[in-house]
Amino acid sequence: MRRNVQSLNTDWLYLAKDDPRAAKPNASENGFARVSVPHTNIELPYHGFSEQEHCFVSWYRRHFALPKAAARGRVFVDFDGAMIAATVFVNGRQAGPEHKGGYTPFSFDITPLARFGGEDNLLAARLDSSERKDIPPFGNVVDYLTFGGIYRDVRLRVVDPVHIKHIFARPGDVLAPRKRLDVSARVANTTSAMKTIQVSGELRDAKGKAWALEPVRVNVPAGAEMDADLSVAGLRGIQLWDLDNPQLYTVAVALDNGDAVETRIGFRAAEFRDDGAFYLNDKRIKLRGLNRHQTFPYVGQAAPARLQRRDAEILKTELACNIVRTSHYPQSPHFLDRCDELGLLVFEEIPGWQHIGDEAWQDLAARNVEAMIVRDRNHPSIVLWGVRINESKDNHDFYVRTNALAHRLDPTRQTGGVRCFFGSELLEDVYTNNDFQRDLREPCAPRYLNTEFCGHMFPTKTFDQEERVLAHALWHAHVQNTAGGIKTAGAIGWCAFDYNTHAQFGSGDRICYHGVMDMFRQPKIAAHFYASQEDPKKRIVLEPGNYWVHGDWSTGFRGPLTVFSNVDEIEVFVGEESRGRHKPQREAYPNLPHPPFVIKEVAGAWGGKFQPLRLVGCLKGRKVAERRMANDPLPARLEMKADDETLVADGADMTRISLRIVDECGNVCPFAMQPVQLAIEGPGVLVGDNPFPMPGGRGAVYVRTTRQTGTATITATTPRLAAEKVKIRVAK
Ligand code: GAL
Repeated sequence: MRRNVQSLNTDWLYLAKDDPRAAKPNASENGFARVSVPHTNIELPYHGFSEQEHCFVSWYRRHFALPKAAARGRVFVDFDGAMIAATVFVNGRQAGPEHKGGYTPFSFDITPLARFGGEDNLLAARLDSSERKDIPPFGNVVDYLTFGGIYRDVRLRVVDPVHIKHIFARPGDVLAPRKRLDVSARVANTTSAMKTIQVSGELRDAKGKAWALEPVRVNVPAGAEMDADLSVAGLRGIQLWDLDNPQLYTVAVALDNGDAVETRIGFRAAEFRDDGAFYLNDKRIKLRGLNRHQTFPYVGQAAPARLQRRDAEILKTELACNIVRTSHYPQSPHFLDRCDELGLLVFEEIPGWQHIGDEAWQDLAARNVEAMIVRDRNHPSIVLWGVRINESKDNHDFYVRTNALAHRLDPTRQTGGVRCFFGSELLEDVYTNNDFQRDLREPCAPRYLNTEFCGHMFPTKTFDQEERVLAHALWHAHVQNTAGGIKTAGAIGWCAFDYNTHAQFGSGDRICYHGVMDMFRQPKIAAHFYASQEDPKKRIVLEPGNYWVHGDWSTGFRGPLTVFSNVDEIEVFVGEESRGRHKPQREAYPNLPHPPFVIKEVAGAWGGKFQPLRLVGCLKGRKVAERRMANDPLPARLEMKADDETLVADGADMTRISLRIVDECGNVCPFAMQPVQLAIEGPGVLVGDNPFPMPGGRGAVYVRTTRQTGTATITATTPRLAAEKVKIRVAK
């Protein structure tokens, strides 16, 4: 029987309170809202709210029908993630135990509960989105919010009674001219008789060229599961997956009864070695990255595939990172898929934050290790598993267990586990440590990776004064430079994006302003530092680290002009006058690919004659970039951009409407906090604060589609600037 997988993302009914009647097929649906998933249990302002607002029980209902033929197979409902505990009912009967854990997928075999032949079925889920002490990461305080809702995809899957549960593909001899591939396919036999099954498979490249795997026959006992191990050797002409050319291949496995699955893989060798370095395909790579929380303003974690994928693009292309840590939990499959496609390395870890709970809690954490690895072990981008609770104390038995489990489920990858102290018992392959000291210490283990720095040591808002936003950027530059010079595999800064948090953390408005970007993914100056580490062949970056203003320094004098760039020389003009050609600060930052430019000749004083600034960036003597800064900037324009021209009319797709108030030179005015009033016409809803207060002269709202197609027009007005409009096409 062929497998039939159908998205169940649309046509949910949602009730924002607990009502046990909601499990019953004939219960009244008055008061339910029609929604699509990913869905947040409540939309919130971008800051200034408490976690209590999303900590509640809610219900979701979804009607569906099954053809008669499906009765010959097994019917599963697959949830990619629901926050934080879910009890699922089909036609009024509970489908299995409550699933505890918001970051891992779960499935129920609902065959015995389902009705076939086109009759109505009711799938209902009771979702508890409170901070349950029995479920990681909770039990103590946590510096982030988990929000609520069925915030990932849901599918209905009809398969043969004998079917593939999952596959694990292991590229081998990766650096040899002839490579091999080993694939284990877990075959489940749900019947009451032993079944003999022929399992075949193939490897395909993007152009459709295929290599067959040696087929095998397996005898799967009644009610049991078994691995069928297939392989192929002598593979020629296979291209490696690497950072610049992340070649992906498809592995397809089929049973002779018609069941089949596919996954994407890459051929790459990834290893943290005893010399302290990380090697990708035998090439030494200094890891330079950022931590990412998968939360967004207004919708928490309920961001659709498009936004999840875009974050990977931002990290790889706007921030020139080569690694991201999925702090502190397994993240969206869409995000990881995009990391594979882009060549962005990933350190993925289990949910948790400082606290280790009792035995039952630890069992759940071990289950999270398993769920994470089984879900994600085919991603070439993932190079390290985090199998400790972030920043927890040593716990010998627990971490022997998580490490053994990780190595058993995936013998191809090394383990790490993030602590925040030296002298910890090292049960993992790599000592992964949060060292927040500005001057990083020499590593305490041969294989060592710094997994957090800066963060709460130097919170920085887009609307902080120039001196601070620059110092924040230089903190990141300093640590990345230090990491470049010591025996660490690299450094992953805290963090990519500002995020909502609890009262015990952050700046009082329930935000940790720790990002190099704000939560709207708008850059702070520190983002320009990361961007400037890009290879100039890919993109030229020339970004001033100053606002070019007279009097916003606590010293009374403006410090030297600092520029983040990957050019090799900058000529600076103040007014018409050249202030010389300048080189990057190689002596101060010997280990950065592209050190900042610190130009002492161009400082400023209170009052005085102040002129516009012009930067001319050159590579090998040739002008490649220019930037201008006004000496008397005033808000000149409201800039509004939609990240996408076209969206899908599925009721969940979203795009960012980015907003900036800029001066005559197109530079953001960081203190232009003029509220922007937004309006939408056509198929789409605005998600976000309206009017939007423009913290730091920038920010964003989002547009979510409805089920209607057409064109949505978004208009933005401010009291003093010309109105702006963008149009978005919404298609089927
Ligand atoms: C670390 C922690 C992170 C975040 C960070 C802020 O201790 O692991 O989750 O809270 O501090 O700097």
